[in-house]
Amino acid sequence: TGLVTLDEGFVNTGSTRSAVTFLDGEKGVLRYRGYPIEDLAAHCDFVEVAYLLIHGELPSPEEAANFRSGIRHHTMIHEDMRSFYNGFPRDAHPMAILSSVVGALSTFYQDSMQVDDPDQVEISIYRLLAKLPTIAAYAYKKSIGQPFMYPNNDLDYCENFLHMMFATPAHDHLVDPDFAEALNLLLIVHADHEQNCSTSTVRMVGSSNSNLFASISAGIGALWGPLHGGANEACVNMLEQIAADGGNVKKYVDMAKDKNSSFRLMGFGHRVYKNFDPRAQIIRACCDKLLAKLNIDDPLFHVAQELQDVALEDEYFVERKLYPNVDFYSGVIYRAMGIPVQMFTVLFSLGRLPGWIAHWKELHATPGKRIYRPRQIYTGQNQRTVVPIENR
Ligand code: CMC
Repeated sequence: TGLVTLDEGFVNTGSTRSAVTFLDGEKGVLRYRGYPIEDLAAHCDFVEVAYLLIHGELPSPEEAANFRSGIRHHTMIHEDMRSFYNGFPRDAHPMAILSSVVGALSTFYQDSMQVDDPDQVEISIYRLLAKLPTIAAYAYKKSIGQPFMYPNNDLDYCENFLHMMFATPAHDHLVDPDFAEALNLLLIVHADHEQNCSTSTVRMVGSSNSNLFASISAGIGALWGPLHGGANEACVNMLEQIAADGGNVKKYVDMAKDKNSSFRLMGFGHRVYKNFDPRAQIIRACCDKLLAKLNIDDPLFHVAQELQDVALEDEYFVERKLYPNVDFYSGVIYRAMGIPVQMFTVLFSLGRLPGWIAHWKELHATPGKRIYRPRQIYTGQNQRTVVPIENR
């Protein structure tokens, strides 16, 4: 039916109109609902930003209070759901656990299947925002064999997550306010990024009228890959490898340039940003501040700096406009906070959740919404006749 235009990787194909996030890759501009992320990072907390993305406006004090209390109401997960964790292998990747448990939310909350009922959608949104940190922290506790910590609703969103990660029944870990502040900032800068791979996945799944939990679970799967959110984990693994290899940065830069090698500099390059990634700049400043304040001298930070300096002076990277992206320095901050490397992409998921939700809602509010169904250019065999097996 008609002429199909091929655009491998959707480089120039718009999949939708959207009013959520504006991005200018040439100028390094990123705005949620019209507000620059620098401004949001300076004045808001993550829950306010989540409200903004999902509802389109910053909340009034009363709206913010109601929103927070709606989230607090749902922070625990069903006790039966805790037993899921017993079934996962101890060394399971937490992204696999996150995606599975989020997918399983629709087994517990079957009302979520009523995707046309705004009240059911609203409660699913509260459940997701409230439970994702709990599900994520339990994945970590499982991996180290510690008991799960129930959420503490006296704490704010980021503090509560750090509490569930690091407290034990024997030790009421006091959350470091600098860590909570850094986490808040990291979640804000990750909160949305228009039609990226995981968000497009959420929209794709949602377009068939699948429920919110199923759509977000698929989005978590998409985010996991090292070319997308998984780059933060891959980046720190790479920096560790370079450090263990005597800090020979040049060798790895050369390897990344070698077209016979599949190695790429993780945390470098972006489909849309061609001058700088504004998120990387905010994160870099936060990283400098936190390490200085805590007097941490992380050798990986020096490797990262050196790698950046060498790459940015190299013709290959200059020509292709490859700069550090959001995933380049975030891992150094997470390390300083004591977060294990396997949890890095899980934290990206916590940040991206409001964006995914906002896009799912926007999709459903689109007049004339249709199922996403791309076409293809067929390159297979022409019609053939089956030779019965005895004659093949
Ligand atoms: N190291 C070495 N070469 C690179 C890199 C890199 N990190 N990124 C791109 N290139 C080269 C690539 O080989 C190609 O060269 P040539 O034109 O000679 O074939 C050119 O730059 C264009 O790259 P591309 O793969 O066509 O670009 P893309 O828009 O399809 O991919 C990307 C974007 C982010 C997947 C890619 O830059 C990459 O693989 N980066 C490393 C992984 C990473 O850091 N991902 C996180 C992205 S930001 C956060 C997020 O999305 O979650």
